Amino acid sequence: MIRIQVPATSANLGSGFDSLGIALTLYNQIWMEEDDRLDISCKDSVVVPTDESNLIYWAVKQLYQECGRKLPGLKLIQENNIPLARGLGSSSACIVAGILGANRLLGNPFSRSDLVNLAAKIEGHPDNTSPAIEGGLVVSAMEGERIYSVSVPVSDKLQFAVFIPPFELKTEMARSVLPETYSRTDAVYNLSRSALMTASLFSGKLENLRVAVGDRIHQPYRSGLIDHCDTVFRMSYELGSLGTYISGSGPTIIAMVPTESMKDFIAHAETHMKEKGISGWQVRFLGVDSEGAQVSLD
Ligand code: HSE
Repeated sequence: MIRIQVPATSANLGSGFDSLGIALTLYNQIWMEEDDRLDISCKDSVVVPTDESNLIYWAVKQLYQECGRKLPGLKLIQENNIPLARGLGSSSACIVAGILGANRLLGNPFSRSDLVNLAAKIEGHPDNTSPAIEGGLVVSAMEGERIYSVSVPVSDKLQFAVFIPPFELKTEMARSVLPETYSRTDAVYNLSRSALMTASLFSGKLENLRVAVGDRIHQPYRSGLIDHCDTVFRMSYELGSLGTYISGSGPTIIAMVPTESMKDFIAHAETHMKEKGISGWQVRFLGVDSEGAQVSLD
């Protein structure tokens, strides 16, 4: 069997709507091989579709079709560590696992950049799929059907405190509340900050991050969909966050925190949330994955 490891991803980073994304040190593992029937199982208790609607299977089939090959059947085993519908790239991880796995099963007919293009085409935007494949902080632009992207390393002076709520928010729903058009002032507000975010994360100029997360494109419209959003933002800044944002389309909230104070930050955050009666949230810290998805023989 082959094994595919795919990192969680956090898209947008506040200001970089549909263009910035970062790979994090939390991984799904997927094992697959061709079979004469469809056999899907999980190593954990997460419930995933075990029929043709399974997203990994569907992505495998897409790649076979691109190659003009028929997929006989598939044995697929999933280990799901990325929580579903929480803004941490769980659906992108499935798409990436499917197309990278299929590419290996077919003898690697596609290059990495072909796979980056195909993954974004399936997902509809590149800001989770590109970092899931490339690792690091990835800036992507879509031009027609092609993705132009670059992955850069992130300063090790900071880590990511991840607040995962006990409820889901589907991307489709979180996109449906956004306006169709924005003013030039708002466009400039965001594009200046997303450029600032990229340069500041790369260079380690951490004092810029609080301004760089500023956003007028999606967060003001989505915060109302996330219970306790304002409280978690406020608390994170009181505890020393360098910049806090809604991860992807939410509902997870991420605070960027200096590496040396991360353990204290998490401990205090847990205590504060308990005191404020915010229950069921998982709080943990993650680093940046710099390798992206890996495929190996198991
Ligand atoms: N850029 C996307 C959004 C990420 O904010 O809708 C969600 O997958």
